[in-house]
Amino acid sequence: MFEPDLLKDRSILITGGGTGLGRAMALRAAVLGAGVFLVGRREAPLEDTAKAIVERGGRAGWATADVRDFGAVERAVDRAWKELGSLDSLINNAAGNFLARTERLSPNAFAAVVGIVLEGSFHSTLAVARRWIEAERPGCVLNIVATYAASGSPYVVPSASAKAGVLAMTKSLAVEWARYHIRLNAIAPGPFPTEGAWSRLIPTPEAERAWLEEHPMRRFGRHSELADLAAYLLSAPAEYINGACVTIDGGASACAQGGFTHLVDAPAEFWEAVERERRRTP
Ligand code: COA
Repeated sequence: MFEPDLLKDRSILITGGGTGLGRAMALRAAVLGAGVFLVGRREAPLEDTAKAIVERGGRAGWATADVRDFGAVERAVDRAWKELGSLDSLINNAAGNFLARTERLSPNAFAAVVGIVLEGSFHSTLAVARRWIEAERPGCVLNIVATYAASGSPYVVPSASAKAGVLAMTKSLAVEWARYHIRLNAIAPGPFPTEGAWSRLIPTPEAERAWLEEHPMRRFGRHSELADLAAYLLSAPAEYINGACVTIDGGASACAQGGFTHLVDAPAEFWEAVERERRRTP
C-alpha cells in the first residue's frame, strides 16, 4: 500500500529497536527508505538487527543505553545524529512488563517498569525535542503504549500506570509543541506475539488459548500490521494526525474489559507457572 520511498531521507531513533516489535518497525522503516538508529540495553540484538537492515541495503546504526539513564540517552541521541546526519523521528518502544499480583510487588518492581516506560519515554522525547526546537526543525514522536493505557488493567499495574502516563504525555506535548512542528502520536497494540511479551505475559499454552478464545478475530496481531501503522503515522501523509492514539488489536478492546481482567479467575497453578517462567528467562 505504500510508495517504496515513503520514508526516504528520514532518520528514526527506535528505543528497544533490537528485538520484537521494535525490530519489526525498524526493518519496515528501513525498507521504506529511512535510516534507523537502534537503542537498547543489550548489544547483541541491536547489532543483529542493524546487520539485517544493512544486508538488505538499508542504513542502520545502534548504541547501548538504558533509557532510565538520561545521560546515556543523550549520548545515544548525539551518536544517532552524527551517524545518520540528523534525526527527525523517535519511536518510544522500549518497555518493561510482567504479570504479577500487585500486593506481592516491591516498590522497586514498580519503579523498574515506570522507569523504563514513563521516565524512559520522557528522557528520549526531551533529548530529541530540545535539539529539534533549538535547530528549528520539525519532528515526530511515536509512543507505543497498550490498549489498557486508557482502561487500566489488573495484574500489570506498573505498566498500566506508566503507559497511561505516556498517553497523557503524548496528548499534552502534541498541543504544547505543535507550534514547533513536532507531532506526537501513540499506538495502542493489543496482543502481538514477541519473545519478551509472551514469556512475561502469556507464558503458558493454556493462557494463549484463553486469549484466542476471547478474541473477536481469534488471532493475534502480525508484526507487519503494527510496523505498517507506525510507518504511516511517521510519514508525511500523516502530517495532520497529532495527539492521536491508534488502537490496533483486532477489536479486542472495543467491547471487552481489556487487559488481563480474565485472570481474576486464574487458579494458583497459573501463578506458579508465571513465577517458574520468570526464573527461567533472563
Ligand atoms: N514479578 C514481580 N517482580 C519482579 C518481576 C516479576 N516477574 N521481575 C522483576 N521483578 C522485580 C525484582 O524482584 C526487583 O525488585 P526487588 O529489587 O525489590 O527484588 C525489581 O522488579 C527490578 O528487577 P530487576 O530484574 O533488577 O530489574 P531490571 O531493571 O534488570 O529489569 C524488568 C526490568 C523487571 C522490567 C525486566 O523484566 C526487563 O528488563 N524487561 C524488559 C523487557 C520486557 O519486559 N519486555 C516485555 C514488554 S511487553
